[in-house]
Amino acid sequence: MGLHATPYQLAYFLFEYIFAHIVELFRGPPPRTEDNVDGKVVVVTGANSGLGKYTAEEMAKRGAVVIMGCRNMTTGQEAQNEIKEKSGSNTIELYSLDLSDMTSIRSFAATVLKEHPVVDILVNNAGISLNDSTRTFTKDGFEMHMGTNHLGHFLLTNLLLESLKKSSFKRIITVSSTACVMSNIDLSDLMMEKAQNLGLGNTMPYNNSKFANALFTKELAKRMEPFNVKAYSVCPGLAKTDIFRHYSAGVRTLMNVMSVFGIPVEKGADSILLCGLAQEVSQDSGKFFRFSKHFAAIEKLFTDEMSEGLWEISEKLVGLKKPQ
Ligand SMILES: NC(=O)c1ccc[n+]([C@@H]2O[C@H](COP(=O)([O-])OP(=O)(O)OC[C@H]3O[C@@H](n4cnc5c(N)ncnc54)[C@H](OP(=O)(O)O)[C@@H]3O)[C@@H](O)[C@H]2O)c1
Repeated sequence: MGLHATPYQLAYFLFEYIFAHIVELFRGPPPRTEDNVDGKVVVVTGANSGLGKYTAEEMAKRGAVVIMGCRNMTTGQEAQNEIKEKSGSNTIELYSLDLSDMTSIRSFAATVLKEHPVVDILVNNAGISLNDSTRTFTKDGFEMHMGTNHLGHFLLTNLLLESLKKSSFKRIITVSSTACVMSNIDLSDLMMEKAQNLGLGNTMPYNNSKFANALFTKELAKRMEPFNVKAYSVCPGLAKTDIFRHYSAGVRTLMNVMSVFGIPVEKGADSILLCGLAQEVSQDSGKFFRFSKHFAAIEKLFTDEMSEGLWEISEKLVGLKKPQ
């Protein structure tokens, strides 16, 4: 299956990205009017490092009750202590969450719901990026990127939805990536079983999972409209985090060299905070944000047919709906 974007679109996205990235490097903090999240419950996945950790810290500084969902409890605890120290907040909770394991997701969601019947903001931030030439799998047998980045968050979000509906705030932010323009996602082969090779230097499974993140948000926003729950996709841009840590030494060195030109974590997390906090975007549910702006051009790739189809398949895969 070929890429969804045409060669013309790919060229456009490449040059547009380079330009937007350079502008971003020099831009000051954009103005925004933030809603008050004092005492609000904010769940952040992958809050032990990078963008998730920074987001958790910023939410804590604003008085939110922060729930950190982390699979590595050692680095999770270190991050929790650091966030407590920097924010001066004591309302930061840490629970184990492995998004590549549906049992762990269900147990995390049950704990969150027991402790906090109302969740106000969910930040689906965690993400894995491998660079293996062969597919790897989650405990439940899903391709690792699709299983963790998309299906893990799909299940978690659905398990927390009723509690989000009860909130007066109701926002769900899912971290996607502009890399999804290089996706060949195929709904009849979501786990890439039929793919001859993984493609684009083995990044295709990651790109496909990030495409799925955006399709999921589009459909989620549509389904949640009657309940006033808002959903947003964001791309942080090429941000200086450790996202490439699972790559082979050679590729990692190359990516680290590129990352020298990356944007700092604070800027990378800015769209997450915009969509999580700002009044300005309250009417923009379902949209894709990057560099603190609506990135409309990319949304042409996310068709209704695909977003509806992915939702139905995902429901069956995670066991929310029985296969017919
Ligand atoms: N940095 C960029 O340039 C960039 C660009 C586009 C999109 N993104 C997206 O931004 C998000 C945050 O990444 P980052 O850049 O901040 O990188 P990061 O520092 O590597 O953070 C990724 C987080 O995801 C967690 N994670 C991975 N697999 C998990 C699993 N199975 N269960 C629970 N947590 C898991 C990691 O936990 P461990 O520490 O246990 O591995 C880590 O906390 C990701 O979704 C990524 O795809 C990043």
